[in-house]
Amino acid sequence: MDAQQILSLSPVMPVVALHDAEAAVDLAHALHAGGIGVLEITLRTPSALTAIANIRRALPDVLVGAGTVLDAAQLAAAADAGAQFAISPGINPAFAEACARAPVPVIPGVATAGEVMLASAHGFGVCKLFPAEAAGGRALLKAWHAPFAHMRFCPTGGISPDNAADYLRLPNVLCVGGSWLTPPDVLARRDWHTVTALARQAAAWRSEQGG
Ligand code: 3PG
Repeated sequence: MDAQQILSLSPVMPVVALHDAEAAVDLAHALHAGGIGVLEITLRTPSALTAIANIRRALPDVLVGAGTVLDAAQLAAAADAGAQFAISPGINPAFAEACARAPVPVIPGVATAGEVMLASAHGFGVCKLFPAEAAGGRALLKAWHAPFAHMRFCPTGGISPDNAADYLRLPNVLCVGGSWLTPPDVLARRDWHTVTALARQAAAWRSEQGG
């Protein structure tokens, strides 16, 4: 599965910071029960790689990726743990080269036209726009569609149920990313019913292009 197919699986890519690897399978199961079978576990917690491995082992129907991947070493560690894709918040020339050689599809982060050009030059047709709202939001994506008509994006950062549907209507948006499906307090009390309800709401949206 390539990056475009991965980002077309669901209108929302859950961005998860998990402090308890033991909860990973229940969490992924709760998202899946709500209709979202793909998630990004950010490498921001010590338990992230174990969480990825646990989901990969237990839930073959769920696609699990690593997020907040910052360098080639983290890319390799994520793939070793079983991550099926990787997402970064940004890009630079060395990282772009590492991504192009990676054993799993990578969705590099961009926030400027120059970074889109760097990603495109390394063969990436799908990028994360991060931080989406702060970087220019829908106006930026509309402006990019003319010079970068071949590029597709997963805007993330500041997306919520209030603006997600508007992003999903843009012709260059495959899906949106966000942490609102897995709020820290909900994860802390293992409130899987709430996660499933939030996922169900998000899964009902449709991108014109993607999931
Ligand atoms: C990310 O890592 O992609 C962001 O932290 C998610 O942004 P959000 O918390 O505004 O959804």
